[in-house]
Amino acid sequence: MNPIWQQKKLIEFCKDKGIHVSAYSPLGGQSMSNAVLHSDVLEEISKARGKSVAQVSLRWIYEQDASMVVKSLKRERLKENMEIFDWELSDEDRFKINQISQHKRNRWGSRLQRGPCRD
Ligand SMILES: NC(=O)c1ccc[n+]([C@@H]2O[C@H](COP(=O)([O-])OP(=O)(O)OC[C@H]3O[C@@H](n4cnc5c(N)ncnc54)[C@H](OP(=O)(O)O)[C@@H]3O)[C@@H](O)[C@H]2O)c1
Repeated sequence: MNPIWQQKKLIEFCKDKGIHVSAYSPLGGQSMSNAVLHSDVLEEISKARGKSVAQVSLRWIYEQDASMVVKSLKRERLKENMEIFDWELSDEDRFKINQISQHKRNRWGSRLQRGPCRD
């Protein structure tokens, strides 16, 4: 789960059933063609907020009441990725993220053909 693969129906289903959601690949995974970290919409929001694209993505996930499993081998990024709790996205930011066209990719960047939930 991330802003490029929001899985709205699944999130709604889980909320309805009281199931906690945890997002893996919250930054889009480790692919070179990472659609999250290269998103124009997230880039625009990140500039307006003075935050990184990664922080915008993680903050959006946090605001969905989900937890996340984010990975970095870099100390400064580990710190950056934790600095998402003392600010919030605006309604306009949320609206823009909501409009992002959705792409389902696995952690290596390949398109997945099958899955438990299609959107
Ligand atoms: N159980 C499962 O089925 C499953 C499936 C997928 C993933 N996972 C687990 O979930 C965790 C996260 O998944 P993931 O590694 O695929 O995806 P991810 O956390 O979305 O993305 C990791 C990638 O983002 C980079 N990154 C991290 N912080 C960044 C930042 N602030 N700015 C720019 N780039 C940043 C990392 O590079 P650097 O390391 O160079 O910073 C790495 O290339 C992993 O521990 C993985 O094993 C489990």
